[in-house]
Amino acid sequence: MSDTSVDRGPLVVASNRGPVTFELGADSSLSWSRGSGGLVTALTGALEDTHGEWVAATMSEGDVEAERRAGNRPIDLGPDGLDLRMRFLEVPPEIYDGYYNGIANGVLWFAFHYLWDTVRSPTFVEETFDAWDDYVRVNQMFADALAEDTTEDTTYLIQDYHLALVPRMLREHRPDALIAHFSHTPFAGASYIRILPNRIRDELLHGMLGADVLGFQGHDWAENFLNAARLLPSARVDLTRSRIRVEGREVLVRAHPVSVDAAALRQTAGTPEIRQRRAELAGWRGDAKLLLRVDRLELSKNIPRGFIAFERMLEREPSWRGRVKFLAMLSPSRQELPEYRTYGDECREEAERINRKYATKTWTPIEVRIREDYEGALAAYAEYDALLVNPVFDGMNLVAMEGPLLNRRHGVLALSRNAGAFHRLGRYAVPLNPFDIEETAAAIHEALTMPEHERARRARGLSRLVLANPPHRWVSDQLADLERVRRRRVARAAAV
Ligand code: G6P
Repeated sequence: MSDTSVDRGPLVVASNRGPVTFELGADSSLSWSRGSGGLVTALTGALEDTHGEWVAATMSEGDVEAERRAGNRPIDLGPDGLDLRMRFLEVPPEIYDGYYNGIANGVLWFAFHYLWDTVRSPTFVEETFDAWDDYVRVNQMFADALAEDTTEDTTYLIQDYHLALVPRMLREHRPDALIAHFSHTPFAGASYIRILPNRIRDELLHGMLGADVLGFQGHDWAENFLNAARLLPSARVDLTRSRIRVEGREVLVRAHPVSVDAAALRQTAGTPEIRQRRAELAGWRGDAKLLLRVDRLELSKNIPRGFIAFERMLEREPSWRGRVKFLAMLSPSRQELPEYRTYGDECREEAERINRKYATKTWTPIEVRIREDYEGALAAYAEYDALLVNPVFDGMNLVAMEGPLLNRRHGVLALSRNAGAFHRLGRYAVPLNPFDIEETAAAIHEALTMPEHERARRARGLSRLVLANPPHRWVSDQLADLERVRRRRVARAAAV
């Protein structure tokens, strides 16, 4: 359970994508389903403790309809099993496009994950600044909605790069509120952040600094933020204490790694449907070893280099030919962005090229499955011999935790040093530099050939580390930070 011992007012969470999605039935009935993942579990748990509220943008026709029927009042999900209230913001599509595709995913995501090929991109033009205006507008809509219906003692947990300006905007409405902002992405180093146009960069940093606590998945990202904040003349950055003084306020910068909900995950993975999927997969694998990757079809995941490293391994270690299958399960993502569509083609083409080179009548080295298949992924987690997680940069990476929790074969994790998860799991993984094809190929080989007792030792270590960090701790640690801020404020007010 989350930490309810703290004496606090109501809790309100805001994120672009909400924890539930409504579906409109043919008979006009509305039903909702809950999103998966540690974040939703952790935050819904905390909200249930205070019957709190979650504000998110509408994602479906059903969400829009639910919002209209509620008539600007929060939707109580309690009667249907989730003790929290949901409020949807319906953002006009033309503004949403600039905010979500134009800036959040088209600029900030690239900046935070170091995704630009700086010889050619980015180029910031008038449309970028128009899209920035949309981003500002949507952040303002969120801030206004968050200020409605809430009181001075409300605690706000604002999520991610979509809503980076909300803390400062909300602070204008509620000067004394406790506000935390959490970044689920990495945060890039100051010189990379300087690629952003000055106006965007300054508004972004100032926007985030409206919070009392800025949370990141790892120390590296927190430190990068502290260094980037030094670009602002008005900010006084204390690197040792991880604090920033700005506009007469103090902002704490903290690392709070998120985790996965092991119990829920194991329960879902134990259903007959998933057992059936496991059996199918085991049949497909046959006597071969299974190398697995599970990812969103996402630029930061480094999918083509993973295939090329596998090709390199087949070249260097010909004895693997015919004895290992690489299964890539990729769920489509952000297809509105041309970079993502091209990337999907590149991934497919790379795999096809390698298959043309090595496939035999009875063996195809790489199988790429591009579709939404959460159950299939859970089944595959149980069956892999090696799991490749090689993002160029990643805030945390939950696949690196989910896989070892569900795996039944003492499968080995080959893990990028640039994934936030590396800090926690690195000592039981085979480390790799995601840009180094030779090292990645060697890591795959090592993972597949590791002696059984060592595989078992590492598999146990990985599960133990994941289980030691329940998702509720992620929220309670943030609330504890905010409580510290509140106490300090009370003490300061009493001293005046
Ligand atoms: C990352 C982000 C989340 C986002 C998710 C899926 O994990 O940190 O905020 O929701 O990707 O991306 P999408 O654009 O589909 O919401």
